[in-house]
Amino acid sequence: MDDLRKIVVLTGAGISAESGIDTFRSAGGLWEQHRVEDVATPEGFARDPDLVLGFYDMRRAALAKVQPNDAHRALAKLEAEFSGELLLVTQNVDDLHERGGSRQVLHMHGELKSALCTSCEMRSPWDATLSDRPNCPICQAPSLRPDVVWFGEMPYQMERIYAAIRECDLFVSIGTSGAVYPAAGFVRDAKDCGAATLELNLEPSEGSASFTETRHGPAGQLVPQWVGEVLDSAIS
Ligand code: OAD
Repeated sequence: MDDLRKIVVLTGAGISAESGIDTFRSAGGLWEQHRVEDVATPEGFARDPDLVLGFYDMRRAALAKVQPNDAHRALAKLEAEFSGELLLVTQNVDDLHERGGSRQVLHMHGELKSALCTSCEMRSPWDATLSDRPNCPICQAPSLRPDVVWFGEMPYQMERIYAAIRECDLFVSIGTSGAVYPAAGFVRDAKDCGAATLELNLEPSEGSASFTETRHGPAGQLVPQWVGEVLDSAIS
């Protein structure tokens, strides 16, 4: 780890599991409770906007009942104390990285606490409900939708993410099943560019074989331990 200058960290639902937020693909997870086609596609939204707006209103409201955990806090400590460059990319739409102290978080799948106007296409910070069809604060049209990237839509800031992956020394994937592209492909992109790759996940993911190192266990333990190693190696 001596030459570690640039790190890209990708997080998924598993990092928020110990905070009490359901993951997607576990037994009883979100995609067993709801059909992806109904609540996470533009077609589902066109078919039944009330259902979709209500689903995300419920998930946004649930954020008030959860707290960041040790894994979120450890990544905030890494950002504050690592002397090199860190890019934290999350597939999560919750705000637990920010509440855990991270200042720069790239939400590639959008955010529950943001609304996207289908009329003016602007994004606005949003804490309230959307199912009551409030007006867009920018253009006043009653056309707000959740600012969440649905299947078939382009994730945010891909150019910036790929640029960081091309240059990083280490790519770390935390709490993600490796089932959804493009994020699932980041490990191979990083490896192709010469980076070391590390998976921290409760269990082997679909992409485990692609990583140079894998550690399995709860993020609340693995992430603080790994961050400690990185910061210790930088000091010595
Ligand atoms: P998944 O639900 O697919 O995967 C969560 C991963 O976290 C699994 O591999 C679990 O084993 C692991 N996990 C569970 N608890 C953990 C813990 N305490 N510590 C560490 N790991 C744990 O969630 P994502 O990979 O984030 O996209 O899903 C990717 C995308 O699929 C989501 O962003 C969402 C979803 O459909 C969209 O909605 C566009």
